Amino acid sequence: MEILKYPDPRLTAPNALIETFGPEERAKVAEMFQVMANGDGVGLAAPQVGWNVRLFILQLPEIADVKAVATRMISFIFINPVVELLGERVCAPEGCLSFPGIYAAVERSSKIRVVAQTPSGRIDVVTEGFPAQAIQHEADHLDGVLFTERMVASERARVEPVLQALRNARKD
Ligand code: NI
Repeated sequence: MEILKYPDPRLTAPNALIETFGPEERAKVAEMFQVMANGDGVGLAAPQVGWNVRLFILQLPEIADVKAVATRMISFIFINPVVELLGERVCAPEGCLSFPGIYAAVERSSKIRVVAQTPSGRIDVVTEGFPAQAIQHEADHLDGVLFTERMVASERARVEPVLQALRNARKD
């Protein structure tokens, strides 16, 4: 399993609802956690590994304190998530494992509600801050929406040469 890089067409292909979450799906998710960790990421959506289904994973600190070095990380698996935007529009920097070397300011809602299936049951939570930002980023992947589309205009213009280089590299 490897992480697909922009502009791989599977990143923007339709993603199917997950009907069953059995041993095969569990094994794939375990592999996703592995490649995400190898890439130093905190979130990864199934289409980013060529699996076009509505599932993403996140690894978030137990306590939302960036200074707490020894904070335990918790793994989350979101299946068929539905996100409702609740907060104000805020701007914060983001990266994406499918866009190596790109880090830019993206516009998101400060607060969201997410309803999803997980391997241990249904969740329905309201969250804000970094988890809200990360969930919006990953849920976007399931709709084929890449973070370049959420960048503020000046940032989108700034990273365009890098995007062009990635597109050229794909043609070769
Ligand atoms: Ni991403």
